[in-house]
Amino acid sequence: MYQKLKGTYDVLPHESDFFRWIGNEIDHVARLYGYKEIQFPIIEYANLFQRGVGESSDIVVKKEMYVFEDRGNRLVALRPEGTAGAVRLYIENTLHMYGYTQRLFYAGPMFRAENPQAGRYRQFTQFGFELIGDASPEADVELILINHELVKRLGITDVTLYINSIGCRECRPAYQQKLTAYLGEHKQELCEDCQTRLSLNPLRVLDCKKTSCQAVVRQAPLQYQHLCEPCSTHFETVKNSLSSLEVTFLIDPYLVRGLDYYNRTVFEFKSASLGAQSTFSAGGRYDYLVRDLGGMDTPASGFAMGMERLAMVVEASTGKKRTQYYHPPFVYVAGVGENLSLAVWQALRLLREEGFSATTEFRYTQLKKHLKAADRLGAPYALLLGEDEIQKGKWTLRNLQTGEQFQEIPAEIVAFLRAKK
Ligand code: HAM
Repeated sequence: MYQKLKGTYDVLPHESDFFRWIGNEIDHVARLYGYKEIQFPIIEYANLFQRGVGESSDIVVKKEMYVFEDRGNRLVALRPEGTAGAVRLYIENTLHMYGYTQRLFYAGPMFRAENPQAGRYRQFTQFGFELIGDASPEADVELILINHELVKRLGITDVTLYINSIGCRECRPAYQQKLTAYLGEHKQELCEDCQTRLSLNPLRVLDCKKTSCQAVVRQAPLQYQHLCEPCSTHFETVKNSLSSLEVTFLIDPYLVRGLDYYNRTVFEFKSASLGAQSTFSAGGRYDYLVRDLGGMDTPASGFAMGMERLAMVVEASTGKKRTQYYHPPFVYVAGVGENLSLAVWQALRLLREEGFSATTEFRYTQLKKHLKAADRLGAPYALLLGEDEIQKGKWTLRNLQTGEQFQEIPAEIVAFLRAKK
């Protein structure tokens, strides 16, 4: 028997309506905020991601990318995230010609060869929002507001927004020097990963979860106390706008993010109900990436949320299981007797034309079997078609919850069902 790969998962028929609902809510909010959907390949040249997410990101350092040579000896990779692909699309298709500011939205599978655990998969689904071409703090605020709106719509209650500023290429080097000097003094107390990070990107030591590193980090100099004037003003405006919009947040001076492209505002939405993988949505400003990937100097900001973690938080917050979002077919058509397939086809066609979800089991001819099938599917109504119905040109409609039934001409049955939908 074949089994799925470790770190992947199947969505079963009775769960898929739940995921569809989450996706629809996100689509709707994207539209409300004027974000247009883009689609880009799952597979790209590996160096796009190496350059995009950065040499010191976990994805590259921990070799989390699925990289392989294709038949033309090209080094390609499955996308580990969406921002690099979105920016490649923006540059390659000269989107700035259609308007300097681009509000882009995407959804789809991402791949990271991580160690699987609850909420951490090797194939997962991200919904990403990228606001390219706007350097203002308001752009960051808009992205946070989108999250806020989604949290509300999905009924997520147990949530905290953490924000930080990690400065820019002007103020970061001096701070980084200070941090490196401090961490260098404590090198022996740091974990093995952080000792590597020290030379690659000392900022990443700040968000190490290991107790030994956290003890060192607690005394470390912090970026937000070393911001240059423009970065400081930017951060102040973000905080003030969020406060005046009544969006509650906490400043987490240790929040740095695991991808290299960020500058200034970074943020994460966390939920305690998720356990170790508590972040379900995250992002920030990345003003250098468009340029670094070969485009013009273009500021940008964005975030992505993971479907699987969102699903877990929604279930925990609402107390409603994913299977409870299942939509059964509305009408089950039961052909009771032999040679009824034409009558069944006609009934199904009429119901579907009227917009009702309708189905049947072609292999059954006995009422008992049909009713069992309808019950298995959870259909609220069954349409019974037998000799009597055919002769009278009427249908029998049975309410499967109450057992009540009546016979009427199809138009009346349709009117009745319409009122019940
Ligand atoms: P990220 O923090 O790597 O950021 O991922 C964003 C979200 O994707 C996470 O908060 C989580 O919900 C989900 N996620 C990431 N890895 C996994 C995994 N292995 N299993 C399940 N879910 C996962 C980015 O990817 C950036 N591209 C976000 C961004 C967009 N920044 C600017 N624009």
